[in-house]
Formats: sequence, C-alpha cells, structure tokens
Amino acid sequence: MSKKIFITRQIPDAGIDILRAAGFEIDVWDKKNPPSKRDIISRVKKGGHHAILSQLTDAIDRDFFSSCPSIKIVANYAAGYNNIDLVAAKEKGVTIANTPGVSGQAVAETTVALTLAVSTRIAEGDRFVRSGKFKGFSPFSFIGTDLGGATVGLVGVGDIGSRAAKTFRFGFGAKILYYDVVAHQDIERELGAVRVSSLDDLLRQSDVVTLHVPLLDSTRHLIDARALGLMKRTAILVNTARGPVVDEKALVTALKSGTLRGAGLDVFEFEPKLSAGLAKLPNVVLTPHLASARESVRKAMAEIAARNIVDFFEGKRPTGLVS
Ligand code: GLV
Repeated sequence: MSKKIFITRQIPDAGIDILRAAGFEIDVWDKKNPPSKRDIISRVKKGGHHAILSQLTDAIDRDFFSSCPSIKIVANYAAGYNNIDLVAAKEKGVTIANTPGVSGQAVAETTVALTLAVSTRIAEGDRFVRSGKFKGFSPFSFIGTDLGGATVGLVGVGDIGSRAAKTFRFGFGAKILYYDVVAHQDIERELGAVRVSSLDDLLRQSDVVTLHVPLLDSTRHLIDARALGLMKRTAILVNTARGPVVDEKALVTALKSGTLRGAGLDVFEFEPKLSAGLAKLPNVVLTPHLASARESVRKAMAEIAARNIVDFFEGKRPTGLVS
C-alpha cells in the first residue's frame, strides 16, 4: 500500500518531487493560513496519513500522538524540534527527524547582520531618514558601538555559533568567548576562542552576546532579569535561536531603563506576538524569524525532510534522525 504523507505547508518542489518519485501519496495543506493543531489532527484522523512533514510552528504534542496513531514518522522542516513532544513520540514509537547541517551559514550571517544593525544603528537611521527627520550630517547623532576589538560571547557553539564566531573574529578582529557544555578545540585553535566556565562570566565580559542554544527546559529563560543585570550597560544581545531562551519582559525592562545598549531579535518568546513595549523601543532590531531564509537553504531543507521520510519507510536510517 502506498504511504500517505501530510505536508502542513507548501514547501519547495524539490521535496515534493522526492516523495512523489518514491511513490508516496501527497496531501499538502494549501490554505493561506497555517493549520491549527485541531486542523492537523482532524486532517490526519480523516486521512489516515502515515507520515507528517511538519513546520516548527505546528504543535506536535501529546494530543497529536494520541489522536493520530497512523503516523509513524514526523519529519520537521527545521533544524530545531522544540515544537515536538519527544517523550510522547517515544511512548507511541514514532520516529522524529529534522533538517540538520544546511542552515548554519545563513543563520550565522543573520546573527552578524543583526549585531551590525544594532551596533551601527542602521535600522534606526533608516527609520529616521524615511520619516523626513534627517536635516543633514551632525557630529554627535547616531553614535554607534565599535565591533573592532570588541568581545563577542557566544552561548552555545554548534555549527551556527562557530560560523558566526569566525566572522566576528576574522571580519572585525573581535575577541571570542564561548560558553558550552562541551569544549570546542577547533575554534580555540583557529580563532583563539576562550571557553568560560560559567554563563555569568561570559555575560559580564562580553560587549556582544549571541545565543545559539536549542530550546530545552534547561535553556528556557536562560537570559532572565538576573542574567541581563550581569551584562555591560553598553552590551548588545542577539537572539537567532528560539524566543523563550530570553525572558522578553525582562529584556524590555533592561532596554527601557538603559541597563542594556540594544538587542537584535529574529525570534520571540510568544512568536509571532511581541511582548508589550518591545516594538516601541528604538534600540532593538526585530526580524520575522528569517535567519535561515535563503532559497538554497529552503530547498535543501525540503530535500532532507522528504528523504528522511523515504529513508524511514525504506528501512534506512534518516539523515536527520532525532529519536
Ligand atoms: C529554524 O528556526 C530552524 O530551526 O530551522
């Protein structure tokens, strides 16, 4: 019997082609708005799909696994998989896969871009010019922060963190600190990066702090009011990881009161909603979870997600096997 796959959003054709070529029956959610959790469950219950190709915005939780016993594999179209209840999946014997190894460079570039957007005040300046307020050069307006010789502290150093670290080091001559559960001798050797023994040390010493950790119970609100209080008043925080790693309310307070210089955020605690006051702050740059948005990356993600499903049903180990 041919396998039936539910794809919860349109994805690049490259992925669909792989699934079709493998003889699978494809069912793509084709409405403009994404499906709600109820939409997903009712579609799978009705359709009896064998696999779901999900998005990071889909809640693939305990309810889903209990309600959709026909599903054998969830192939998430993302590197992260905090939208999936891995414990419930394991209990039901469902395989989980992601799309690792293809978005690192794009996310690293966006991390650096957000840092520069805040440090050079580019976004703020753009708004100023567009609003017609620019009356000519002034020696003291829009003074930014130097990145040359700055200390950049990375929280988590996987593929993304080490690529960003290289750009900060070789592009700007920054000194690199990192905090990670494992030592990364490659960046220590190549970049002279220094591993700090505590997050507190990294926060105290860094001029720029960038976040590259997955969202886990242990990283939720890792950057809370206390952590923000340890950072330099002149420091910049950049988050291209997951919104809830930062306590957004505490961040707004720190930015408003001037205990932090600025922030660049591509992800939000209550995405797509913003915490009260965040959008009004001049010293933040906000982008709509676009860090990995490159045509080549999205195509590669579609191919990996599709191959994960094909490999699984062919009895092979999927490239992006999570559990
Ligand atoms: C994007 O946020 C991803 O996890 O791939």
